[in-house]
Amino acid sequence: MTCSATDPIRLLLFGAAGRMGQAVLSVLPEYPQVELVVAVSRSDHPLPPGIPVFPSTALAGVPEFDVAIDFSLAPAFSRLLELCLDRRAALVSGTTGLSSADRHAIEQAGTRIPLLWSSNFSIGAAVLCVLAERAARLLADWECEIVETHHRRKIDAPSGTALALAESVARGRGEDTVWRDRIGSVGPRTPGTIGIASLRGGDVVGEHVATLFSEGERIELGHRAQDRRVFARGAVRAAHWIAGREPGIHQLADLVASELAD
Ligand SMILES: NC(=O)c1ccc[n+]([C@@H]2O[C@H](COP(=O)([O-])OP(=O)(O)OC[C@H]3O[C@@H](n4cnc5c(N)ncnc54)[C@H](OP(=O)(O)O)[C@@H]3O)[C@@H](O)[C@H]2O)c1
Repeated sequence: MTCSATDPIRLLLFGAAGRMGQAVLSVLPEYPQVELVVAVSRSDHPLPPGIPVFPSTALAGVPEFDVAIDFSLAPAFSRLLELCLDRRAALVSGTTGLSSADRHAIEQAGTRIPLLWSSNFSIGAAVLCVLAERAARLLADWECEIVETHHRRKIDAPSGTALALAESVARGRGEDTVWRDRIGSVGPRTPGTIGIASLRGGDVVGEHVATLFSEGERIELGHRAQDRRVFARGAVRAAHWIAGREPGIHQLADLVASELAD
């Protein structure tokens, strides 16, 4: 990340008491160019001393901020988006399981504020999608299936990253994504589909494996996140990168490409 000599950007952290919110709080000291001005929490879960906490019930009264980082749950997303639109602030969101109405609202909001949503803020997962797209382009007639594994408390399935991986594979093949799970008497595999299986258990932070099958051989492309701080660092970098940019829907891939090229 390129440090600038300007004032630090003012950050609002939404979902601060959650697992990802706490991971963001733990990495913020590494980024002196990002200043936390408000941490929004729904409940009264204790946060480390010195953190400027605000209850989510009083969102309208939060102090001014330049960019929000959101790691909450889908039902909370629309209220935060409205706040960012009111304040003309940028929004970086990693919340998964968003509704189609939320996705539509993101598209609309992109005409007024800078926005970046990603299902996975790790650089390794972004590169995995690039590799999967390339492999699928080379092996367009191979069959692809994806397995994702997460901790027992994750509430949405399949993961946003598994869906993004399926989209990458479909893009590589030049097809629309048709993903499916398999329960019951589903019959033989339908050509062109991408199966996604979701495993839930233990404290797994996040694992994704795309397998490309042919007769007599297969390729496995995978990524394993061992520590939530990889997502937290990606989101803080994205917040710094997006603050002050033109309104629009920005992509993590552009940030990753610029960082890898540096
Ligand atoms: N994009 C990525 O790289 C990435 C990586 C990991 C996870 N995620 C996603 O990030 C999200 C958070 O994950 P997590 O593991 O941190 O979940 P979590 O531990 O359950 O935390 C969710 C947080 O959201 C808050 N929240 C829930 N409903 C709310 C509401 N209506 N208004 C305000 N705040 C609300 C909760 O507040 P209270 O604690 O006060 O109830 C909690 O702090 C999930 O969607 C997950 O899939 C994304």
